Amino acid sequence: MKYDICSFENRVAVVTGAGGNIGLAVCRQLAGYGVRIAACDVDAKIVEERIADLKAAGADIRAYSMDVLSRKAVFDAIAAILSDFGKIDIMINNAGVWNHRDVIGRQRFEEMDPVEWKRLLEIDLDGVFHCCQAILPHMIERGYGRIINTTSIAGEVGLPGYADYAAAKAGLIMFTKTLAMENAKKGITVNCVSPGMVARGEIVAEPGTWIGRKGGADEMARAMVFLAADESGFMTGVDIPVDGGRILGPHNCDM
Ligand SMILES: NC(=O)c1ccc[n+]([C@@H]2O[C@H](COP(=O)([O-])OP(=O)(O)OC[C@H]3O[C@@H](n4cnc5c(N)ncnc54)[C@H](O)[C@@H]3O)[C@@H](O)[C@H]2O)c1
Repeated sequence: MKYDICSFENRVAVVTGAGGNIGLAVCRQLAGYGVRIAACDVDAKIVEERIADLKAAGADIRAYSMDVLSRKAVFDAIAAILSDFGKIDIMINNAGVWNHRDVIGRQRFEEMDPVEWKRLLEIDLDGVFHCCQAILPHMIERGYGRIINTTSIAGEVGLPGYADYAAAKAGLIMFTKTLAMENAKKGITVNCVSPGMVARGEIVAEPGTWIGRKGGADEMARAMVFLAADESGFMTGVDIPVDGGRILGPHNCDM
């Protein structure tokens, strides 16, 4: 007998950073369950191209511009989504950056630019604050919600050369837990998924993990979709690391 651990009864999801690696994987999986999706990114055009095949396959997925740096842009986008879809059941706060070091690599804390520090926290932490403030009144009114934040194992164990990123993601984990407590009796669950190193395209070796490779965006998305499902109402304040065992500590033993 087949038993499906995830079901979605006429659900609407908002995914931020939907044009990116993990965001797009989340959209694909949710669309596979028939979830209607508002796919948000800094510029709707980024998303529009990438979801074209999902739309062509019949998914009800629409692109929205939502720069999480701007509180107004977040509130405007949520209002537009509510007007278009009539409700929001699932909010996946996934937009995030590693900042300029995506290009220049690790940076010692002493050399960190305070402007860059502030900007990263404004996207990775304040951005989720704005999104949650925009969506919570609606979820509270309806007595239902699934909020999932994309954090990082950098927020759990630290990451040399990325003090700002680690600080933002650690803040987001505790933000998640606190929001979970505040909303537990309102039908709203708040959880996070902490990816380890995620591959773009081909999965490559990653000696720093016990499993010995990077993860795929699909593997991150699976955990998010699980938390977003109707059946996951008894899980809240949880942080799921999807990291190939990286959180277990240094990979220094082959058995
Ligand atoms: N890739 C990894 O190894 C890894 C590891 C741990 C955590 N994460 C987290 O996963 C999430 C998704 O990352 P990804 O790997 O898919 O990266 P990605 O760069 O492919 O996607 C991130 C998306 O966020 C969007 N974005 C950036 N700034 C934004 C803003 N101000 N407003 C709205 N959208 C914005 C980008 O346009 C992009 O589409 C991020 O929160 C990231 O921190 C990634």
